[in-house]
Amino acid sequence: MDNRPIGIFDSGVGGLTVAAAVMKKLPHEEIIYFGDTARVPYGSKSKETITKFSRQIMDYMLRRNVKMVIIACNTSSSNSYDLLTAMYRLPIQEVIMPGVRACLAATRSNKVGVIATEATIRSGEYERRLRAARPGIEVYSKACPLFVPLVEEGWTSNQVAELTAREYLGDILERGIDSLLLGCTHYPLLYGCIQKVAGPGVNIVNPAETAAETAAEFLDASGMRRVSASAPQYAFYVSDDTSKFKRTCQLVMGTPYNAVKIELA
Ligand code: DGL
Repeated sequence: MDNRPIGIFDSGVGGLTVAAAVMKKLPHEEIIYFGDTARVPYGSKSKETITKFSRQIMDYMLRRNVKMVIIACNTSSSNSYDLLTAMYRLPIQEVIMPGVRACLAATRSNKVGVIATEATIRSGEYERRLRAARPGIEVYSKACPLFVPLVEEGWTSNQVAELTAREYLGDILERGIDSLLLGCTHYPLLYGCIQKVAGPGVNIVNPAETAAETAAEFLDASGMRRVSASAPQYAFYVSDDTSKFKRTCQLVMGTPYNAVKIELA
């Protein structure tokens, strides 16, 4: 057993969708969450910058003595995971593979859409891994950069969100996809809006649950689950505004957890 916390990070509030799934799947685990709200979005930045920010967060997680880190950010996972795993001896889990698994389980027609940030789409990771796992699959990808600021602003179900979704999703929906993978952890907060625009014939795939299952499989395989009679502690840190964070926590987790603002060295 290993009673140290699990570290989870994202560029902002989006990773809370993964943290919520981890809390549900692994209810005895302690969690330290970091959201880089001062520097969000990562999706419009270069690979070098995304990796620099991700390394600073990894260093912080190491100082906090976490037992593993879940990169709850597709942008960081698709641009920096290889380098981070080479640099740090800590177990690190990314979110691309869980997304691929969830999408493959959902599709019947093998015609899928992937929406994500510009940097994730540019990396080509989703397309590459979907095609490697299922040759012949048709993958239509689209970067949706305005979705992240909408979510950070809390505009998840108004007319602006719906119009934006219609504009972004129009051409991939015309391809006749049966599944749409949410390749950014912010996007599940727009779930209702995206489902409405996509219509009932399209499965909206949120990889968060599969990401939590992958973490549980890893902890079981390595005998690292927390075993304790005391309730787990959750700690949330952000690099900027704490009030928006609290509002999103309420929305995603049903509890308005307080976050502490910190500066990364
Ligand atoms: N939530 C992040 C992701 O999963 C990125 C959002 C951003 O910072 O652009 O890709």
